[in-house]
Formats: sequence, structure tokens, C-alpha cells
Amino acid sequence: MKITLPKWYDLHVHLRQGPAMAAYVKAHLAMGCAGLLAMPNTKPPVAKVFERDPLSCWSVESYRDMILKAGGDAFSALIVPLYLTRDTTPAMIEAGAKSGLLKACKYYPPHGTTNSDHGYPLQSSLENDVFRAMEDNGVILCLHGEEHGLSGERYFGKNSSAEDFFYRERMPVLREKFQNLKLVCEHITTKTAVDFVQKSGEKTGATITPQHLMHTVADLLQGLKYHLYCLPLVKFEEDRQALLDAVRAPGNKRIFAGTDSAPHAAKLTECGCAAGCFTGGIAPQLYIQNFDLNKGQNEFEAFLCRNGAAFYDLPVPDETFTLVQENEDLSLCHTAEAEADVVPLPLGLGEKALPWKIVL
Ligand code: NCD
Ligand code: ZN
Repeated sequence: MKITLPKWYDLHVHLRQGPAMAAYVKAHLAMGCAGLLAMPNTKPPVAKVFERDPLSCWSVESYRDMILKAGGDAFSALIVPLYLTRDTTPAMIEAGAKSGLLKACKYYPPHGTTNSDHGYPLQSSLENDVFRAMEDNGVILCLHGEEHGLSGERYFGKNSSAEDFFYRERMPVLREKFQNLKLVCEHITTKTAVDFVQKSGEKTGATITPQHLMHTVADLLQGLKYHLYCLPLVKFEEDRQALLDAVRAPGNKRIFAGTDSAPHAAKLTECGCAAGCFTGGIAPQLYIQNFDLNKGQNEFEAFLCRNGAAFYDLPVPDETFTLVQENEDLSLCHTAEAEADVVPLPLGLGEKALPWKIVL
């Protein structure tokens, strides 16, 4: 089988910084990406819009330049969201939006994931005017939807989790208070989050990663496959089924691809494991396995190529790429990334090949 699609946008990626960045950009171009949204949890974080702002962090302006110089000038769209911190002001949002540089902001739960130490609690943002400024200026809010500071059963249990809490307790309040603010519920993993997104109106979108469509916590634990360790954690089969049903639904317009490809050169650390799965170069080949192609390619095409473009107001590219149902040898794919010393997720799970390959 062969499927030709418009080039697509990956609306949640970690490109990091420094010399390895060029390899990550290359991997995204090699999988038919026309553009992407590059996350701001770099070191230091991307927490101001303009370089001239005296805050001592990176700016959207300078991080965009770094990506462009690392080969990202081949993308037709490049969004860098502003990392929301205690220093974010409504004036910053307004000036950024008016300049055209600021399209989105990112909420991180404080200390909740990789480089999220600068995150400002959602509760505090609900009470200042930053979200209002975003709403007034058409800036999208991307959310890592997990409650911070929970532990034990409340952090991860059979009937509760940090994400479950966030979508039950926090999101309805946020949605109700800022009804015109566009929200992206990123990398959702639970039935609770799916239900929230489906009940919300057209201003609420969501991304889903390949690993959350394909795996559950059992796959992580059996053999302790730490390459599958990412945040939010993979969940239970009931949750995975809810994600699959949502992306396969013929009317799905608001759930789209955002791989959360998150390379870590040193995955294992002395006291644990870095959170993040690397799926650069192979994401469409993973995503496609979750769709029933006997029913046609519409649902897959909507999820990968159309819904995210529409939500972020990006044109669907005229250029295309093709997925061919033939084995792709993962060890070759690994060699291409050897410079960055990062293991693609399926290789880390002991798989040798993928059932699909990409022809550009
Ligand atoms: C991401 C990373 O490594 O930057 N990790 C992850 O597990 N997804 C951060 C994030 O998106 O939470
Ligand atoms: Zn991420």
C-alpha cells in the first residue's frame, strides 16, 4: 500500500539547543514535516519575546534564529511559544502578538517535567492578566496538563493521576473564565482529558503522541523499557482506547499530531531516567499504524495534516510526501542520528524495523 499526503506540521517538538539541534531538524525534514512548533523548555528557557528585553533568558526572537541557522530555514512555518513564568506580563504578550513573533505561550507545571522549573502555577496565572492579554490578542495557550506537587496514588494510580486531576479540576475553570482563548491540551493520555476536549467547543484542540496511541504502562514496566518513559506517563488500556477512538472518529477536527519528540542524549541518570521519547524521523510511520486504512485515508490525513494546520491558522502545504508499506530498517535510522547519540523509541523497545517508510 502507498499513501500520498500533504506535508504536515508537528505541533509539539523539542529541538533542544547546541550542535545536536541540526540533527533533530534534519530528522523532522526527513519525515515530511513542512513546519513545527518548537518547545521553549531549553536551558535557559525561552521566556521573553524580544532579545532587547533585559530579562536574563532566551527570547522567541533568538531561539527562532538558532533553529533557522540549524537548517530550520527549510521549514515553511516555525512557531516558538513563550514559556510562561512569574516574569511574563500582559504588555509582553501584547507587544509580541502585535509584532507577529508571538503566536503561542506554554504552560508548564512547576517542576513537573524536563526543564519545567520556571513554570508558574496555573492558579496564579488565572488571577493575573496574562491569559486575558493572550485571549485579547489571539495568542494560543499550549498546556502541559498535569497537576504539580502530587505524590503517590494521586500522582499515578489506577483511578487517578496528575493529568486526570488537572482535566477534572483546573481545565473547566480555565475554559469557563476565558471562553475565547484558544487552548491546546498537549500530549493527552487519559480518557478524562479526551472527554474534556470533546465536551469543549471549537476553541479547544489537543495533540496526541505516537507512544500514547501505541503503548500502555504495561509496556513500560515489563522489562523496564525506559525509552518509553515520558511525561505524562503512558496510562491504561481504557485510556489508550479513548485516544484511539478520538483520532479515528470520522468527525475529528480538533485533535492533531504533536509528537512531543524529546531527545535525551543521556536517558539514564544516576538517580532515575530523563523523561521523553525520541520519534524524530519516524513519527508518521508510527502514527499510521493506529488507523484502519481499509476505510480510506481521511481520518489519518485529518489527524496528521489538516486539523493542526487549521487550528494554528497555517496553510495546508501543496508539497506532498508518500508513505509506503515496506520495512524500514531502524538501525539505519539510528546511524543517521548517531551524532546526537539518541535512540529512536521503537529501537529502544527492541524493535528492528518499522512496517512503513517515507519517500519524499
Ligand atoms: C519533555 C522533554 O524532554 O523536554 N519530556 C517529556 O517527557 N515529554 C518535556 C515535556 O514535554 O513534558
Ligand atoms: Zn513536550
